[in-house]
Amino acid sequence: MAKFKFSHGTIERNATLLLVLSLLVVSIGGIVEIAPLFYLQNTIEKVEGMRPYTPLELAGRDIYIREGCYVCHSQMIRPLRDEVERYGHYSLAAESMYDHPFQWGSKRTGPDIARVGERYSDEWHVQHLIDPRSLVPTSVMPGYGFLANTDLVADNIGAKLTANARAGVPYSKEMIANARRDLQAQAGQGDAKDLIAHYGKKAQARDFDGNPKRLTEMDALVAYLQMLGTLVDFTSYEPRSAAEGR
Ligand code: HEC
Repeated sequence: MAKFKFSHGTIERNATLLLVLSLLVVSIGGIVEIAPLFYLQNTIEKVEGMRPYTPLELAGRDIYIREGCYVCHSQMIRPLRDEVERYGHYSLAAESMYDHPFQWGSKRTGPDIARVGERYSDEWHVQHLIDPRSLVPTSVMPGYGFLANTDLVADNIGAKLTANARAGVPYSKEMIANARRDLQAQAGQGDAKDLIAHYGKKAQARDFDGNPKRLTEMDALVAYLQMLGTLVDFTSYEPRSAAEGR
């Protein structure tokens, strides 16, 4: 023990030695963390249920980004007990693999909304977005009432899908060709059969903003919010480490 103290003293009093040894320790730590990544094909665990966003959800996501919702809201539940108890299962890498760019956020003025989907009714969301303080009197969230009066620009939706496909999201040619029709069908304008065929049974199709006559930005944003966190089926999810018996 005395000997150890002595050698530690020597290192601390010799700047060059301290620097060299620190660099050595940091490089070993770095290699241990980085080297395995060169041998792994993919670090994203496969999970059941993840699918690319529907055209309407994608349009809503663009509004979410445009309005800067990420400035106050994160979409990343950390694997800490208090977060899991409040928000639900911690976020999985797979859940944001079709997000370009991802919306993890870094600031929580409002709560995390990674799993807000299906937690409130559409009416609640519309009312909350129009006037947050009518539902939560102490809220500091701004109102976004204009979204309910702004028609959704949908002519460029095919191009948006194409851009995402180039970034690696598996949109098929058929999905891109039908983007506009799928978008309208999901908002309650038209038959949702093709939408379900392209995106699965969980794609929710209805009039989201409470105004069936118009297809507004509110429809798209609420469709996006109602989908968040609902894609992965956690009743059948088993973490990989548990499945491998580690
Ligand atoms: C200035 C910060 C701020 C901005 C910007 C903001 N919010 Fe909020 N948001 C809050 C706060 C604070 C709350 C909690 C109080 C409340 O419910 O209003 C909240 C609550 C919410 C909730 C309810 C979450 C829950 O689990 O109860 C949703 C959904 C939401 N915001 C969506 C949005 C969307 C969509 C946008 C962008 C259009 C947005 N927010 C922009 C601060 C913000």
